[in-house]
Amino acid sequence: MEHIIINGGRPLYGNVSINGMKNAALPIISACVLNEEPCIIDNIPPVSDIEILLDILSSIGADVRRLTKNSVEINCKNVRPCSSPRELAEKLRGSSYLLGAEFGRFGKASVSHPGGCSIGARPLDLHMKAFEALGADCAHKNGRLEVETDLLRPVGNTIYFDKISVGATANAILASVLANGVTTIENAAREPHIVDLSAFLNACGANIIGAGTSVIKIKGVQKLHGCRHSIIPDMIEAGTYMAAVAATGGKVTVRNVIPKHLEAISSKLEEAGVNVICGDDCITVESNGKLRGVSIVTKEYPGFATDMQPQFGAMLCFAEGASDIVENIFSSRFQYLDELAKMGAEIKVDTNHAVIRGGAKLSGAPLFCHDLRAGAAMVIAALATKDTSTIEGIDKIERGYYNIVGKLRELGADIQKKASVKDEQISATM
Ligand code: UD1
Repeated sequence: MEHIIINGGRPLYGNVSINGMKNAALPIISACVLNEEPCIIDNIPPVSDIEILLDILSSIGADVRRLTKNSVEINCKNVRPCSSPRELAEKLRGSSYLLGAEFGRFGKASVSHPGGCSIGARPLDLHMKAFEALGADCAHKNGRLEVETDLLRPVGNTIYFDKISVGATANAILASVLANGVTTIENAAREPHIVDLSAFLNACGANIIGAGTSVIKIKGVQKLHGCRHSIIPDMIEAGTYMAAVAATGGKVTVRNVIPKHLEAISSKLEEAGVNVICGDDCITVESNGKLRGVSIVTKEYPGFATDMQPQFGAMLCFAEGASDIVENIFSSRFQYLDELAKMGAEIKVDTNHAVIRGGAKLSGAPLFCHDLRAGAAMVIAALATKDTSTIEGIDKIERGYYNIVGKLRELGADIQKKASVKDEQISATM
């Protein structure tokens, strides 16, 4: 297992280019299953979650061709529903999108219970509720979720979500695109990736209106045609580099972003005393490393993203005064705070409320990543601490951040990836 070693305390300077958004690419790649013609998807982030999903598509009969590192051609003409292998589907939450896509095209779907980051309960009840509204029977059998209708296709209906869910909204869209009749999704998620998924499907001939608002209307069409689509930039990757510069000090321009998607993050950074300048497709962040404590409450988009909470938690350890964080979306998203406490951070947690007393002098420590965004938080804390830290579990970080070590090194960080001592001993004996 590889780990990261960081000699922290260096400010970051320069430019960093942001990849396509993993959480948009996952439903869009899955949406290709609805299409009997080939699609080309550009600006795909070459991260492990995407590689696994592409492997799943190949294994169910799709012809998946890499055109470049960031572009792929996917032809799902010969896809066989209900055949995704357990060992792959269990590795990522995004495999749940195959349920909506297979059900939408074939009237039946089956996927092993999806895995993903351990950030608290991640039920699929809202996804099932949507499929049932469209005429499906849903059941758990032999560790798989099965969705099936007696009719050939889903039938349009009104779906009301009593809780906002990104995944359930995406699955409801996937299941409705080829349905007979009109589907209305009420209390839909408004995340940019829902807008991007709808833009891709509309470019393939779907009829979706209202994506980006709380009410989405989908008029079922007979079939889709091929198209070429470029994935939107990853606002969470961008926000992670912005929080890193805020914590270490320095001046960095994050390129290939949509500044509008980053408004909640930019305005919190400004409140913390960071200078944020937006261009058309870039944001420059300048920090003298002197931060003020702020309050953060995670919410669905356009609120402050739960996927940015750990990175801000790490950054706020270096602020003057106290910061409050309220986590409203996932119950176990404070596990990373135990790691920061190992570095000497002063933190109190009461269920979903954390108080960070900034300004404590942190020292380097051996750190462990519980999940993807917690891993990003560890990296930020280590970069801003004038000491050496090691971070284990970087496979979790690489699920969502392409070349994070190389990108940070370009910005002047003293960071390297190393095989563990055990791995080095094994390779020495081979
Ligand atoms: C997606 C993202 C994840 C991000 C999250 C919130 C992917 C693969 N993952 O996860 O990175 O952190 O959005 O922006 O895109 N819920 C239910 N029942 C359900 C579904 C969800 O109660 O059937 C609850 C969840 O427990 C959570 C809340 O709804 O409290 C939001 O979850 P959701 O938006 O569905 O997150 P994911 O789609 O799993």
